[in-house]
Amino acid sequence: MKQKILSLLKTAGGYISGEELSRSLGVTRSAVWKTIQALRADGYTIDSVTNKGYRLLQSPDAVDEERVREALDCELVGTNILHLKTVDSTNNEVKRRALGGEPGGLVVVSDVQTGGKGRFGRVWQSDSGGLYFSVLIRPELPPAEIAAITLAAGYAVCLAVRQVTGLDARIKWPNDIIIGNRKICGILTEMSAQSDRIDYAVIGIGVNVNNTAFPDELKTKALSIRMALGSPVDKTLLLTEIIRKLDRVLSEFLVSLSVDDLEQFKTFCATLGRRVCTVRGGKEITGTACDIAPTGKLIIMTDSGEKLPIDSGEVTVQGIY
Ligand code: BTN
Repeated sequence: MKQKILSLLKTAGGYISGEELSRSLGVTRSAVWKTIQALRADGYTIDSVTNKGYRLLQSPDAVDEERVREALDCELVGTNILHLKTVDSTNNEVKRRALGGEPGGLVVVSDVQTGGKGRFGRVWQSDSGGLYFSVLIRPELPPAEIAAITLAAGYAVCLAVRQVTGLDARIKWPNDIIIGNRKICGILTEMSAQSDRIDYAVIGIGVNVNNTAFPDELKTKALSIRMALGSPVDKTLLLTEIIRKLDRVLSEFLVSLSVDDLEQFKTFCATLGRRVCTVRGGKEITGTACDIAPTGKLIIMTDSGEKLPIDSGEVTVQGIY
């Protein structure tokens, strides 16, 4: 009923009378009124004017689980969607469910996180406005493949952001998504594995979508899509598109990205061609990022003319961060 009224309000664009709503749905006007109240409680701003009826002014900045489910027809990712208002960390929630035997494909999305986790033990700011979700996969792959899978996830986010917003989203290797030189998305992958096989992996994705401000320490480094675009973005639409892209990319993933995806990844990769710096075995390495190997490793041409493959860790890129 909520969905039906919402869709009538959306197609009407302007005001639609209570009488017309009750007639179209074959319910009483009082049932219509109760549903409007329930939608308001869900965060929808709905104006009502005597003799004119109802008008939808604004949708909540929350993910609409039903709309995601209806829009998806995926095989690997998004076969089960769970939307929460709040959780400690969507990665933690997915891990708990994985340990309980949940099959691969689950996506848990939360409007806020009280203990959002970033890479290298950092905190991930998770106020409302951002998009926070985690995906459970159970790939039949060795643990060494996890870096390439995470790379594929960043690539899928980049594709979706470009498609939904038209913004020039790029990848800071391995899987940060940036606009200009500021970060709009980070990915934290955690896994449980035997020596030869991944048991399950949790791909946690945080996107700065409609955030309007960041704490001082992040101001020069972080950006939201809303800030870049100048208008808010439908989180449900973006989530749906990311899941769709992730499902497609991972379905074609064997032990690395497909040849076409790898080529496109390189065109989106802001790290290539730039001076980079990383630490390996306690030693600082500087050089120029010159290629991405099929395995997903970053190839650095060091200042002494040696080509070095880098497989993980933090890489500082001149002109970005
Ligand atoms: C990074 O440090 O760049 C990775 C950030 C990953 C944040 C996401 S938000 C959804 C999921 N749940 C978490 O606790 N972390 C990831």
